[in-house]
Amino acid sequence: MGAIQLLNSHLVYAIVAAALGSGFQHGYHTGVINVPAEVFRNWENTTHHDVYKSWLDKPKLDLLWGITTSIMNVGGTIGGVLSGIASNKLGPKNGLLFNNILVILASLFMFLSKMVNSIEMMVIGRFLVGINCGFNCGLCPMYLSEISPVALRGAVGSIYQLVITISILISQIVGLDYILGNEDCWIHLFIIPIVIAVIQIVLLFFCVESPKYLVSVKNNTEAAEKAMKWLRKSEDVGEEMGEIKKEDDQNKALPAITLKDMFKDRSLKIPLFISIMVMLAQQFSGINAVIFYSTQTFQDDAGLKGYAPQYGTIGVGVINVMMTVVSVMLVDRAGRKTLLLIGFGGMALDTLAMSIAFHFTKKEKEILPWFSIVLVNIYIILFAAGAGSIPWFLVTELFNQAARPTAVSLAVPTNWIANFIVTLTFPSIQGLIKSFVFLIFTVLNLLFFFFIWKMVPETKNKTIEEITSRYK
Ligand code: GLC
Repeated sequence: MGAIQLLNSHLVYAIVAAALGSGFQHGYHTGVINVPAEVFRNWENTTHHDVYKSWLDKPKLDLLWGITTSIMNVGGTIGGVLSGIASNKLGPKNGLLFNNILVILASLFMFLSKMVNSIEMMVIGRFLVGINCGFNCGLCPMYLSEISPVALRGAVGSIYQLVITISILISQIVGLDYILGNEDCWIHLFIIPIVIAVIQIVLLFFCVESPKYLVSVKNNTEAAEKAMKWLRKSEDVGEEMGEIKKEDDQNKALPAITLKDMFKDRSLKIPLFISIMVMLAQQFSGINAVIFYSTQTFQDDAGLKGYAPQYGTIGVGVINVMMTVVSVMLVDRAGRKTLLLIGFGGMALDTLAMSIAFHFTKKEKEILPWFSIVLVNIYIILFAAGAGSIPWFLVTELFNQAARPTAVSLAVPTNWIANFIVTLTFPSIQGLIKSFVFLIFTVLNLLFFFFIWKMVPETKNKTIEEITSRYK
């Protein structure tokens, strides 16, 4: 059967139910305070003045703003660590469902912060939403990869990243000053996530739990079979259920995997190392430096004026979405490894060119600004080809049911910590070495290229058993 024929309305429903809300919160909250950053900073300073009767000078305001933005990464790290426990205790689907309570609470905190004049509530809201997103990026790719047929696993797993890119774009558009990103309207930015959370609760309520979870943790083969029949819209699920039971029997014959085993046992520590490295690679590729400082880059380095830098950033968001769609279509054909190699190899060259172009733009004002913008967009295309989506689900492919939650709860926090390091240090390093800051990413992307080439296995069209047996 062709890959597309494997899709049916139930499977599509389950994919949408899981990815829509989870990816949305991740992308939207990552981007939402970026475009209207000045509006938020002014509000923080005015509120500080109203409450504590003093204005913050620039370094203190920078620090407060740094905490407000990056505390989401601290929350993400915690949520990521706990996502393994949540998936074992609740199951990936129910974990995602309950996770919405957190985002509703977080959004209410941020929504009410203006009304009650409290910077602290805004910061707590960002922290809580970070925990929510940490859970999301552990649980959602896990659920997606567990419910999808082998031939579609890459495409289905990539949907999480697709929703992230769409939501970043939405946040950039609604954050424009003439939409909601202004002094009077910004609190409404936090109503949108509540609406999406309620939609996800309803959608997930009618959705089935992962059959693999039902077998391995709940020992309920009957419920698993029912869920599988629903997902495949077919009675003919004997082969897939047989695979799941076989894997479960093998796992139960062995002692339970502990955290210590993850670092000692060769069959686990190599895939864990690979999972952690691809998560590091995703963030240290420099994506968030390029994507979230692009308005400034277009302004300062490429010399654009007026609204042009902001529209340039929205253009980058559109390219990101479009290329992620292409990646969804390619990942099960071209394979994970090929897309990662093209992406990281290309990003190494592109950041080198960016660094040179930005440097000379200051002198040569006619052609180079446009060349710089083209280079930023090429970078996004290369990132979205695979580096954006593959790391999220590769970790779920490299481990079987017994080790997967633990592996996820180690790999996901790595991503948030690396994200935290890049977003926090990029502005100051750029301040010091200007456009040569991109050379750091050149070196890192080159290293990741070689790492992927030597270490990452091709998982396309392979069952989890085939993939994991490679490390035995
Ligand atoms: C990935 C990264 C995220 C980044 C996004 C851009 O999801 O994890 O940090 O903002 O891609 O598309």
